[in-house]
Amino acid sequence: MRRKLVIGNWKMNGSRSANEELLSSVVAGAENLVCDLAVCVPFVYLPQCQQILANTRVAWGSQDISAHEAGAYTGEISATMLRDFVCRYAIVGHSERRAYHAETDAIVASKAQRALAAGLTPVICVGETLEQRDAGHTQTVVSSQVEAVLAALSTADLSSIVLAYEPVWAIGTGKTATPAMAQQVHAMLRALLSMKHPASAARTQILYGGSMKPDNAAELLSMPDIDGGLIGGAALKANDFLAIAHAANVASNSNLN
Ligand code: PGA
Repeated sequence: MRRKLVIGNWKMNGSRSANEELLSSVVAGAENLVCDLAVCVPFVYLPQCQQILANTRVAWGSQDISAHEAGAYTGEISATMLRDFVCRYAIVGHSERRAYHAETDAIVASKAQRALAAGLTPVICVGETLEQRDAGHTQTVVSSQVEAVLAALSTADLSSIVLAYEPVWAIGTGKTATPAMAQQVHAMLRALLSMKHPASAARTQILYGGSMKPDNAAELLSMPDIDGGLIGGAALKANDFLAIAHAANVASNSNLN
């Protein structure tokens, strides 16, 4: 059975003192949870995460990664550097990276490969814009984004990835996909994974992201193919993040029963 996973995506937020408070509260509140928990923070705060989160229930990771191994790429951070700070996860292909940094499916696929080669779990983000949804293209858009990455991975890699379905129109807008809408896309994603390797597909955690909050998390997380959440805004407040983690925990427990 898949465990639920809740990842906070802090985006470009935080400061040393604010992080210390947030991380300490999250660690204290997460002690008795059985779901998987992580925070993906700005690169510069990874040493601070390592210091505060080592030997706790909360893992940490980055929000991006270089598509290159090493060398003359000014400003880039490689997968092996992230390993130096004991990161477990690296988000790749977030819609903000795709939109503001012109990241193509091919770049996202290379980033996922780099993460896997360094022993990190890539959290591969896909999702349609409102225009694409309204035109009835959700399935085509999302499946082509996923297929581009899957084509670059081996079947063995499939058990070491996390997928995140994040409808672009739901990110930071307060508009959430209904549980049924999200479940439909998640089931389609699992079917795509299954075509490549059924046993791994049954194990891959597929997260929902896009205005997941304490008041809608339980319903979303009760859907059979929604294995957790990628949380933006609500990850910046310890109480909100923990409330979502508790909802995931309840859903995990009911799965295990
Ligand atoms: P949000 O962001 O929860 O603020 O909508 C989610 C994300 O972008 O990962």
